Amino acid sequence: MDLPRLETLPLKRGHRVLVRVDLNVPMTDGVIDADLRITTALPTIQWLREQRAVVVVAGHLGRPKGEVNLAESLGPVATHLGDLLGTEVVLAPGIFGPRVEPIVASTPPGEVVMLENLRFDPGEEACDPAFSANLSAGYDVYVNEAFGASHRAHASIVGPPETMPHAAGRLLVREVEVLSRLLDARDHPFVAVLGGAKVSDKLKVIEALLERCDSVLVGGAMAFTFLVAQGRSVGDSLVQPEMVDECARLLATGRVRIPSDVVIAREPSGDAEVRVVPAGAIPDGWKGLDIGPATAIAYGDEVEAAAAVLWNGPMGMFEVPPFDAGTRAVAEAVAHSDGFSVVGGGDSAAAIRQFGLADRVSHVSTGGGASLEFIERGDLPGLEALRHG
Ligand code: 3PG
Ligand code: MG
Repeated sequence: MDLPRLETLPLKRGHRVLVRVDLNVPMTDGVIDADLRITTALPTIQWLREQRAVVVVAGHLGRPKGEVNLAESLGPVATHLGDLLGTEVVLAPGIFGPRVEPIVASTPPGEVVMLENLRFDPGEEACDPAFSANLSAGYDVYVNEAFGASHRAHASIVGPPETMPHAAGRLLVREVEVLSRLLDARDHPFVAVLGGAKVSDKLKVIEALLERCDSVLVGGAMAFTFLVAQGRSVGDSLVQPEMVDECARLLATGRVRIPSDVVIAREPSGDAEVRVVPAGAIPDGWKGLDIGPATAIAYGDEVEAAAAVLWNGPMGMFEVPPFDAGTRAVAEAVAHSDGFSVVGGGDSAAAIRQFGLADRVSHVSTGGGASLEFIERGDLPGLEALRHG
């Protein structure tokens, strides 16, 4: 996919650049838990600084739903970005208007300002043209470096490219290259490992992957709906009854693999009594919380032998040991594979980081929903805006 590159921008010293970054990092009590989305945007920000542009970073945090909520202020993110860059990053007290404009105007070339959370204004998610116009006013160029938010047709993603010169940042270009390589299905065997709670969230992506993959290995709670489609007993495990027919249809392709054994407990607690049983023999009152050891070995072998692997979604409740073992086994297999290995964002990115294996894979995507939607349809609203704007 041809996206306009940074080098094509008509950029001059002192120009104001609006850079949309996915600043939506996981935080606990104002402390950033994982900064991959920030560190991966640094090369673009640094390049813009080297061009002596005034760099104005815009992003969202959480879902404040159009209201100012200081618990979701980008303050801690601005501070962290400043620490990473070794320069002060001032947080503007808003998104645009008379309190923001003087701050941008007084920022020297090569320095960085951050706008406050875009979702404090309802215009962002509503893609309100007036909000887009206000957001874009006074800037010379626009850069989209927010791969993780490019599946949202929100104002800051699709508005500015309509009115000013624009380009894709380095991370955005890399994400699209990596996922396009998987979509082209050049490397075989191509194995996808998919987990997560709901089949309904993954149905379209499984269909898209079945057109390209040699096998799709299913784990996580969604595996139980597949087991029900095979007429197995899943006890009190999570099931989406309305998806059973769809699961049967996917199984009929012969390329969807489901667990042969599972780890079960009555409660999802680390102190609960835990058993390993065949996947179809879960007693009432018990629920499946992880793939079993035989499944972990079988999935791991298939992953290690693959020429290309896509992993999205944990195999079990990996936050609560001992239900992390299946996810850990898959993470290790993905890390050990000599093939082209891609970890989809969100929980699987958190898991691979938790196990200390993030630098052993070809690419950890900064987009969860965005990477899935790109695989489903080969495009995203934010990419379309850059190509057609
Ligand atoms: C994400 O974290 O998935 C992106 O930043 C988009 O956020 P959203 O899912 O709240 O739209
Ligand atoms: Mg999301």
